[in-house]
Amino acid sequence: MRGFITDPAGRAGLRLNEDLPEPAPKPHEALVEVRAYAVNNDEATLISRRPDGWRPGQDAAGVVLRAAADGSGPAEGTRVACYLDAEGWAQRVPVPTHCLAALDDAVSFEQAAALPIAGLTALRALRVGGAVLGRQVLVTGATGGVGQFAVQLAVAAGATVTALVSSPERIQDAQALGAHRVVTSLDDAEATLGPFHLVLEGVGGDVLAAAVRLVAPGGHVAWYGNPGRRTTEISLADFYAQGWNAHIVGFISPHPEQTKGEDLTILARLVADGRLTPHIGLVLDWTRTPEVFERMAARAFRGKAVLTVSG
Ligand SMILES: NC(=O)c1ccc[n+]([C@@H]2O[C@H](COP(=O)([O-])OP(=O)(O)OC[C@H]3O[C@@H](n4cnc5c(N)ncnc54)[C@H](OP(=O)(O)O)[C@@H]3O)[C@@H](O)[C@H]2O)c1
Repeated sequence: MRGFITDPAGRAGLRLNEDLPEPAPKPHEALVEVRAYAVNNDEATLISRRPDGWRPGQDAAGVVLRAAADGSGPAEGTRVACYLDAEGWAQRVPVPTHCLAALDDAVSFEQAAALPIAGLTALRALRVGGAVLGRQVLVTGATGGVGQFAVQLAVAAGATVTALVSSPERIQDAQALGAHRVVTSLDDAEATLGPFHLVLEGVGGDVLAAAVRLVAPGGHVAWYGNPGRRTTEISLADFYAQGWNAHIVGFISPHPEQTKGEDLTILARLVADGRLTPHIGLVLDWTRTPEVFERMAARAFRGKAVLTVSG
């Protein structure tokens, strides 16, 4: 079987291995033939930390080749999205059935592959604020992989959404996602922004500190990302601005594990009925996976990068 493994000598630390062993699914796992997968920001870090033949790949979509032996999960032939721990960048992969969502025919494999990590992060982080109907929500990094879903889901949930983007060139994209207001800085407009019931924060550094100054009393900042790994300095005085007794939640999206498939199903249904559109900025044949990391480092595309698996 063909699939990517880590190799420090390979481009972006990866090599396409032509001779991997066939997967041996456990009783609660279905065997899935992978048709498309997506790449996430953090996977570059995982690859550098696990250089010796580790098999990356967390977001995938495909077709069930063999249903789980314990009778759980979808039947053979079902089109599915999968939220994996690893090994998804291969022709076939075993998937625990609680990490699977069946797909409507209206959802393409490319769209489905874009959903798991980025979509679940946005969906679950949005829940941190409870009901957001009619409330003000701020999404930072709004045109990124997670941010694009966060904006759309918050709008769908009835929030009034402000999007922070990195530059004026991104404003139109954020408006197209449905954001009610788009800004390129939180500091310049601080006097007129917020207070926000919920902040979905994927940028870190100064942006996090500025977001804390804009959160409402008792509000929440779900902090899930820090792509530049910048240091964040927050003082108690940042909460004095207005966010009295506000909460910063260090948000870890794979938790809880058992409901990953359930949440993925919610996202897939929203895509099927047109309420959520995965924005895919790059589609390549999977043999070109290493190239994606170079383009990601250059911030050369918006939304998700998806690889199609062609045998
Ligand atoms: N905690 C969790 O469970 C979890 C889950 C998923 C992701 N994450 C993390 O969340 C972060 C975002 O992930 P992603 O997949 O959405 O990444 P991504 O697709 O690369 O998006 C990052 C977004 O942040 C923006 N950005 C980066 N640096 C910025 C800056 N200095 N100022 C303003 N905007 C900036 C980017 O703007 P441009 O459009 O200009 O590039 C882009 O819109 C990453 O740190 C990732 O590791 C965490």
